[in-house]
Amino acid sequence: MKKFLVLGNPIKHSQSPAIHQQFAQQLGLEISYDKAEVPLDDFANFVKTFFAEGGEGLNVTLPFKEQTFALADVVSPSAKAARAANTLKMKNGELHAYNTDGRGMLQDITHRLGWSVRDKRILIVGAGGAVRGILQPLLSASPEEVIIVNRTFEKAQRLAAEFGVYAQPIDQIEGSFDLIINATSAGLDGSDISLSATIVAAHTQCYDMLYQSAETPFMSWAKCCGVNEVSNGLGMLVEQAALSFNIWHRQAPDTRPVFDIIRKELKL
Ligand code: ATR
Repeated sequence: MKKFLVLGNPIKHSQSPAIHQQFAQQLGLEISYDKAEVPLDDFANFVKTFFAEGGEGLNVTLPFKEQTFALADVVSPSAKAARAANTLKMKNGELHAYNTDGRGMLQDITHRLGWSVRDKRILIVGAGGAVRGILQPLLSASPEEVIIVNRTFEKAQRLAAEFGVYAQPIDQIEGSFDLIINATSAGLDGSDISLSATIVAAHTQCYDMLYQSAETPFMSWAKCCGVNEVSNGLGMLVEQAALSFNIWHRQAPDTRPVFDIIRKELKL
C-alpha cells in the first residue's frame, strides 16, 4: 500500500489524513495516510528516512514549509515564488517540492464560491508566509490591482516590491476593494485586525484564510460592514489537498462532497 504522511509540529489537529482518505475512497484507491509530529531539529533526517524506506509522498505544514523548499532537489514555480512548499514527491531519485496552497485558495474562490479574480481590485491583509504562498497564483489570475497591508508596514513593502504589487499603511488604505483576503494569523488568538469600513463597497467579497471557526473575527468585521459574501478558508484546505493528491495519484478528486464531510466533522 502506498504510504503518505503529513508532517508538522504540532500536527494533532490536522485534517489532511481524513481528507486524503475521503479522496482515495472516492476513487477506489487504498492508501495509508497518517500524521507525524516531527521534532523541530530532525526534519531533514525524518524526510530522508521516510523516502529511503519507500514512502510515496509527504504533506508538510507549519513550521516546516520553508525547510521543505530548501531540502528539495527540484522545486515547482509556485514553491519557488513562495520559497516554501507543502508537498513532496520522490521522482527518479530526486526530491520534488510543490506548493499547492495558493492554487488551492484560488480554486476555492473561483470554483466553490464562484467569485472572480480577473480584473478585480484585491486587498491582502498580512505579509507573512501565508501571503508569500498565495501571491504568485493570485497574480497569474490577472487581477487589476493587488495591494498589501500589514500591521508591520515594512514587511508589506518588502513583499510588495518583490512581487511587483503595491503596499499601503494599514491605517491609510485608499479606496474600496472587490475582494479582501485576510492572511494574518490575528483571528487565531481571538484578536482582531482594525480595518476601516471605508474599504468595503456594496459588492465587496471577503475571504479569510483561517478556518478554525465558522465565523472568524475578520468575517464578523466584514458582516458588520455590510458584506454579504464572506467565507472562511476551509475550502482552501480541501482544495490544496486535492492538488497534492493529484500530484501523487494523477487523479483529480471531487472536492465538494469532501468539503461537506469535513465541515460537518469540524462543526463549521
Ligand atoms: P504565516 O506564515 O501564517 O503568514 P507569519 O509569517 O507569522 O505567519 O505572519 C503572520 C501575519 O499575521 C503577519 O502579517 C502578522 O503581522 P506582523 O507582520 O505585523 O507581525 C499578522 N498578525 C498576527 N497577529 C496580528 C494581529 N493581532 N493584528 C494584526 N496582524 C497580525
